[in-house]
Amino acid sequence: MASDPALVEQVADKSLVRASFGRAARGYDEWAVMQRRIGDRLLGCLSAAPLPHRPKILDLGSGTGYCTRQLQQRQASVTGLDIAPQMLVTARSRQLVDTAYVCADAEYLPVADDSIDLVFSNLMIQWCRDLQRLFGEVARVLKPGGLLVFSTFGPETLSELRTAWRQVDMHSHVNHFAAESEIKKAMLRAGLINESLECEVTRVTYGGVLELMRELKGIGAHNVTRDRPRTLTGKEKIRRVIDGYPSRQVEGEITATFELILGKCSRPAADRERIEWRG
Ligand SMILES: C[S@@+](CC[C@H](N)C(=O)[O-])C[C@H]1O[C@@H](n2cnc3c(N)ncnc32)[C@H](O)[C@@H]1O
Repeated sequence: MASDPALVEQVADKSLVRASFGRAARGYDEWAVMQRRIGDRLLGCLSAAPLPHRPKILDLGSGTGYCTRQLQQRQASVTGLDIAPQMLVTARSRQLVDTAYVCADAEYLPVADDSIDLVFSNLMIQWCRDLQRLFGEVARVLKPGGLLVFSTFGPETLSELRTAWRQVDMHSHVNHFAAESEIKKAMLRAGLINESLECEVTRVTYGGVLELMRELKGIGAHNVTRDRPRTLTGKEKIRRVIDGYPSRQVEGEITATFELILGKCSRPAADRERIEWRG
């Protein structure tokens, strides 16, 4: 099925995604506090999932392997898959038991059809270009009745930073985040059954705009949009972003909005019975 152009997002270049996460790999865990917290929530969703004995699990966008290691403790056969080789090297150096790692793009999975019981993905989907292609690949590799559990960020994410940059120039400085409705559409078009899709908005306080920018850089979350500026950003522009950032507090503290989307969906079982979630 051809992809809907509206669902092909603005990630310009996968090599940029690979390079920026690669550079961040060694220091990633120091910065990724929010990512681990969201990962723990997603892992919590699995307690009620009816997985078979020694399930085959694919951790898509596994990063330094925080979630991969916890999935491995569930008597599972786990493969961590990431586009950035340095992330996999770091994950391997921290692994406790033997885990398979594959360096690949989640939109082109080098994985056999009908072979996976659970695809798990914490905060990777927002880096994909073509949601329909991604969900199509997930549907292909899942066994009938298999599950996909994922988290991603929605369009409200970093809205203050986007507003601040808009006052400085016309370039795109903050990545595009697909809406819940776009995600649902791509998922259903791929033939997956939507089990649940939750969206929640949280606001996180930072010591200032520079602290927020340092965290984004620390986790490798660079601007990879098509309309990003191609030159280095000068100090004067950064000062204008800081001045133009909404919700600045007395001591220079700021808040940043994150719209978290948590989803569970399944591939229809061969007999068309739906997966039953306990709880
Ligand atoms: C924000 S990190 C999350 C890492 C990990 N899941 C965690 O919870 O800490 C996003 C990860 O997705 C990977 N990634 C981005 N785009 C990808 C793609 N198209 N295919 C596979 N991995 C991708 C990045 O290299 C990075 O390791």
